[in-house]
Amino acid sequence: MADMAQRIGLRPTTLTDRFPPPGGRYTAIAQALHWIVALLFIAQVVIAWTLVVRAEGDPAAAFWLTLHKSIGVTILALVAVRLAWRASHPAPPLPPRMPLWEKLLARVNHWVLYAILLVMPISGYLASAASGHTVHYFWLFDLPNLPQSRELAHNAIVVHGVGQWFIYAAVVLHLSGTAWNLVVRRDGSLSRMLPEQSEA
Ligand code: HEM
Ligand code: HEM
Repeated sequence: MADMAQRIGLRPTTLTDRFPPPGGRYTAIAQALHWIVALLFIAQVVIAWTLVVRAEGDPAAAFWLTLHKSIGVTILALVAVRLAWRASHPAPPLPPRMPLWEKLLARVNHWVLYAILLVMPISGYLASAASGHTVHYFWLFDLPNLPQSRELAHNAIVVHGVGQWFIYAAVVLHLSGTAWNLVVRRDGSLSRMLPEQSEA
């Protein structure tokens, strides 16, 4: 199957590393941070959706809200570390055969993802801290509140609510691009974000 695919000019989809990405991989630290943030992000959105459909006064809501806030602050910290790491360890080049417009789209998509991964937790924190709803970080310690401002809290929660649609769009584009490169292009893009695989 692999030989046949090669003969007709396709790279076989394989879990082994017979076709390592030509431009190299993200560093192990960058990969670990990417997958941890991706998992936390999925948990975060699922928790948020269950939160907003809970009945008012539901005692479990406080638990899930504290969890949502704590995971969100953790994402903010991890994204800050990730950006600092990226500044000293640049991303490997995109596959050379990728058309310029796709490379541009991928880069813009990545920066939009980073931007929203900062905007969402910062707006969430501002909304909480400016309205006196202290953030109890995983029930361990409290983050500081800000001077009370209904206007700031209101604007921040609007940004938080609208921001979610940008992140859904960016993640859908990100996953579609990854799936396209994996299944159609077979250019080793996904391997850039995975550890080296053995032939065994
Ligand atoms: C990457 C991080 C985050 C993401 C993706 C995220 C996402 C969301 C989403 C999708 C909602 C539901 C919005 C709606 O439909 O009305 C929400 C609500 C909310 N989030 Fe976040 N959030 C994040 C971080 C935070 C942080 C750090 C805080 C506070 C410290 C926070 C506080 C809130 C609050 C107070 C609500 C309103 C809950 C309610 O309506 O009962 N979020 N968030
Ligand atoms: C199953 C889910 C996911 C897969 C398979 C995946 C795959 C990848 C791959 C292969 C890359 C390497 C660059 C590329 O070719 O595009 C990448 C980069 C990236 N991913 Fe994901 N990803 C997933 C989920 C997410 C989520 C949920 C987020 C954020 C909410 C995210 C944010 C990013 C960012 C910001 C980069 C750019 C890294 C950099 O250049 O510094 N990813 N992802």
